[in-house]
Order: sequence, then structure tokens, then C-alpha cells
Amino acid sequence: MKLAIISTAILLAGLASALGSHQDYPSARREHLKPRRKHYQLFVLDLNAQPHLPTLQAAISAAEEAGLNLDNIQGNLPPRIGMKKELFYFFGIAHPADFKSKLATQILPLITTTTQLLRVDTQPITAINIGFSQTGLIAMNITESLNDPLFSQGQFAGLKDLGDRGPADWVPEFAGTTIHGVLPFASDTEDNISNAVSNLESTLGDTITKIYSLKGASRPGSEEGHEHFGFQDGISNPAIIGFTADPKPGKLITDPDAILLNLGRCRPAWSKEGSFLAFRQLKQFVPEFNKYLADNALEVPGLSAQQGSDLLGARVTGRWKSGTPIDLSPLFDDPELGANASRNNDFNYAHPGENIRTDQSRCPFGAHLRKVRPRAAGGIPEETVNTMMRAGIPYRPEVGEDEAASDTTSVERGLAFVSYQSDLSAGFAFIQQHWSDDEAFPIPGTGLDALIGRPSFGKDPNTPRVFADFVISRGGEYFFTPSLSAIATIISV
Ligand code: HEM
Ligand SMILES: *[C@@H]1O[C@H](CO)[C@@H](O)[C@H](O)[C@H]1NC(C)=O
Ligand SMILES: *[C@@H]1O[C@H](CO)[C@@H](O)[C@H](O)[C@H]1NC(C)=O
Ligand SMILES: *[C@@H]1O[C@H](CO)[C@@H](O)[C@H](O)[C@H]1NC(C)=O
Repeated sequence: MKLAIISTAILLAGLASALGSHQDYPSARREHLKPRRKHYQLFVLDLNAQPHLPTLQAAISAAEEAGLNLDNIQGNLPPRIGMKKELFYFFGIAHPADFKSKLATQILPLITTTTQLLRVDTQPITAINIGFSQTGLIAMNITESLNDPLFSQGQFAGLKDLGDRGPADWVPEFAGTTIHGVLPFASDTEDNISNAVSNLESTLGDTITKIYSLKGASRPGSEEGHEHFGFQDGISNPAIIGFTADPKPGKLITDPDAILLNLGRCRPAWSKEGSFLAFRQLKQFVPEFNKYLADNALEVPGLSAQQGSDLLGARVTGRWKSGTPIDLSPLFDDPELGANASRNNDFNYAHPGENIRTDQSRCPFGAHLRKVRPRAAGGIPEETVNTMMRAGIPYRPEVGEDEAASDTTSVERGLAFVSYQSDLSAGFAFIQQHWSDDEAFPIPGTGLDALIGRPSFGKDPNTPRVFADFVISRGGEYFFTPSLSAIATIISV
């Protein structure tokens, strides 16, 4: 592929180059939890590129200032470095009254809180959280509306708006509204998770039925922390006041109420300190993607075919595989920059002397990173409404030799996409529908998101054109992850 326009431009660029009163959930009762850990580094990935978890003391004082009760908030919510192993257990409630009584007496004490995750001596071997779909809440007679239309209708009803190809691609268990809840489990080892799952299954007995499950695992060796296409993930989550002690430059700093429900928007009081979880099973066609990059390597004077192919991949994504933003390093990877959390987010798309509405020499408008967070779009300062906390993890195996040799996917793999937000229409669904899937965003002629968009024939030669779906949606569901006090005083009674 000859792209003289970007080549020159790139070379030039390259050369120039809180929430009110605390509901005190009895924390004493949670202290008996066993077993405990000695080092929380065992539990989460320890990656240079990503900021470390705050210390408990830093988190507690930040949370106090923001009016948050970390004992009341499920442990999945704070920004985290990424789990090694996870399992998403989707269930239906078979006997609501019995389920509610077990929820109160046996499940609630197992739900991991934010404080527990941050404190080494209370961190469980396997963290367990819980979320309910709209039909799940109704099954338990919780009929008061959470006033989120997307949550109320369920993800399946809105699949066309999310750009999904159709119900035929969906995992059959997601196609409908039969899933009542999800239990995300997280630990270092699969064994630990299976033990926790069988304990929970025997506790809940026939009050629930298992509908579906998906195992997630960080990738092996040096690929740890990278998604299946090979790009470092989890670098640029927002910094939440009250959770992120020491936000690194370039982080989007937001109030907690972008992620946690507050009392605005006619929401019931019990929804406070809960969050909506958007779950998506996104299948990735890795050998096909690699072949596409090799076949369409950008031809830039001075770059080898491999470098041209890597450059195309970086322009599709917006970062090099190392995590280095192409906006800061447009022509070559700079792994040292990518690994430095003080630098790898410290940019926006506005540059003095360059026209932000026409110049894509550093980063194409259609690059995934620029689509899903325009930072400074058209010179307009960044707002904090359309954001979410991403907490996805890769699922299923590495590419096999046969698959690599034939450039064809034969075993499903992808991203178990998870995001938390206080409003689905402002968070995940907005970003997917109004940014990623809007061909005119950030400027007319951009085309779809080059990495996750549907087949796109970009109208601008600068837009990396993608001729096949390398990511397809296999469906998912929306859940409400309540605070612990909401489980204790509303949901389980
Ligand atoms: C299989 C599908 C996907 C893959 C392989 C993927 C990959 C990536 C990668 C490699 C990054 C850069 C790492 C980082 O900045 O943290 C990233 C960032 C991001 N992605 Fe995705 N992503 C996928 C799906 C999605 C979806 C469905 C959405 C939302 C609708 C999304 C929203 C974001 C956001 C908001 C960022 C951070 C942008 C920033 O802060 O600059 N991603 N993604
Ligand atoms: C839900 O409400 C109905 C009608 O009041 C009642 O018959 C049923 O037992 C309730 N179910 C649960 C699980 O509380
Ligand atoms: C966790 O997994 C490790 C390694 O498989 C094992 O040694 C340990 O006993 C497990 N702990 C629990 C509580 O399952
Ligand atoms: C990361 O970047 C910062 C800011 O430029 C610099 O002060 C720091 O020394 C760098 N860290 C490493 C490990 O290079």
C-alpha cells in the first residue's frame, strides 16, 4: 500500500519530533475472612507501564475527602492493574426467596470490598463480586427503576445500536434476558478460582442455575498485560478522585460519580456507591489481523517491510505494541517511553502549528485510541462525562501453530470486555455508538474505529482502511453491581 501523503507527513512529524453520608456497613463482621495474603503483588499484574495501586492509607484519606466509603464499594471498581485469572459466572435465579436468604447470610460476607483488596492482610485468595441484570432484580422483587434505559431493556435489545452484526453472532445464552446475574471471580490461579466456584455452587445449591461462564487469563510471559493482537492494554483508565492517589500526567481526572452512582438523576437512595457493569465477549481474529498488517505494510522510505507493517498496526490502534502513543512517537516505537507511566499518557492530539481538524500525520482520526477518547478534539477541552473504568481481560488460548500457518482462526479467543460507569448511555454505549461507530467522528470522513469497527472503506487516504471484521461482538449483558449496604438492606430482604 502506497501512502505518499502520510509518508511525507509522518517523516516530517517524525523529524520534528463522593457522595454524602457514610452508611456504615458493619466491617467488624468482615474481619473473620480467610484465607489472607501477605503480598498483594501476587494477586495483580505488576507492570511498569501501569500505575501501582494506591496504598491503603492514601486511598482512605482520598476517599474520605471525596465522601466515599470504601468498605461499602465492591472491590472490582477501583482502578486496578489487572488480574491474572478471572472467571465470569452467569446465572439465573431459580428460587428467589431462598436465593435472597443465602445472599444475605452466606454470599454477602464473601463479596470483596475495595478496602479488602487494598489491604494486604485482608485480601482474599479469590476476589468475588456480584452484579444483577434488570431481570435479575425483578426476579427478586426489586422493581424500583434505576433510571437507566439501557440497563432496563438489557443489552440484547440494543444490539443494533452497538453496531453488532446480528443475533446470529451472539453466544446463545446472551441472546435474550434470561441471565439474572454475574459473579466475577479473580485470582492468581485457575485452581483457586475453581475452588471458589465450587464452594459458591455448593452454598447456593439449587437456588441458582448456571447459564454460562467465560474464563479470562492474562497472556503468558512477555505478553502479560497485552491483549491478543499484542498491544499493551490497561494504560489509560481515568483517575478517579478518591481512588487514584497520585494521578499520572495525561490521566482523565473525574469525580467518582462518573463511575459510581450518586443520588442525581432520580435514582433510588440504595443505588448509591453501586455501578453499572457492561460485559461484552469480543472475539478477535488474530492471525487474520496479522496477515492484514503484513499484506498492507506501509511503505515509508527507510522502513523495512516489517517496520511498515508494525507502523500500520500502531496507526490502527493509536499506540505501539509497547504502549507508546504514536502521537508522541509517530514513526518508530520507543519502548522506554511506553513503559514509563509518567509519560505514556502525557499527550493530547493538539500540537502547535498543526491543524487538529486536518492533520493526522501523528495519529489518524480513525485510530482506536483517538476514537474512544478524543482528548482534545478540534481544540475543545476534554470533558469528563463520557468515560468509564475498563477492566477487561483476554479469554481463551494463544494462537496455535496451525492457525498462524494458515492465517485462519480456528479456536475462539478475544477480549472479555468489562467497563464500569454510572450511566450506560454516557459511558460504554456512548463511546461505542457515538464515537467508535460514528463515521463522522471526530471529523467527517473519518470512518469507523479502525481496530474494533465494522468493515470500513475509509474515505481519507490517511485513515487506515480495514477490509474485514477483526473484532466481532459475541454479545453480553448489562449488570448493576450494588454497594454492600444495598445488598444487605434492600436486595436480600
Ligand atoms: C477486542 C476489542 C478491543 C481491543 C483489542 C482494544 C484494545 C485497546 C488497546 C490496545 C488500548 C490501548 C491501551 C490503553 O490506552 O489503555 C485501548 C484503549 C482504550 N479502549 Fe479499547 N480495545 C477493544 C475494545 C474496546 C471497546 C469496545 C471500547 C469502548 C466502546 C474500548 C475503549 C477504549 C478506551 C476508552 C481506551 C482508552 C483510550 C484513552 O484513554 O486514550 N475498547 N483499547
Ligand atoms: C415477590 O412479591 C410477590 C407478590 O407480593 C410475592 O408473592 C413473592 O413471594 C415475592 N417474592 C420474593 C422472592 O420476595
Ligand atoms: C491456590 O492455588 C495454589 C496453586 O494452585 C494452591 O497451592 C493453593 O492451595 C490454592 N489455594 C486455595 C485456597 O485454593
Ligand atoms: C519517567 O519519566 C519521568 C518524566 O519524564 C522521568 O522523570 C523518570 O525518570 C522516568 N522514569 C524512568 C524509569 O525512566
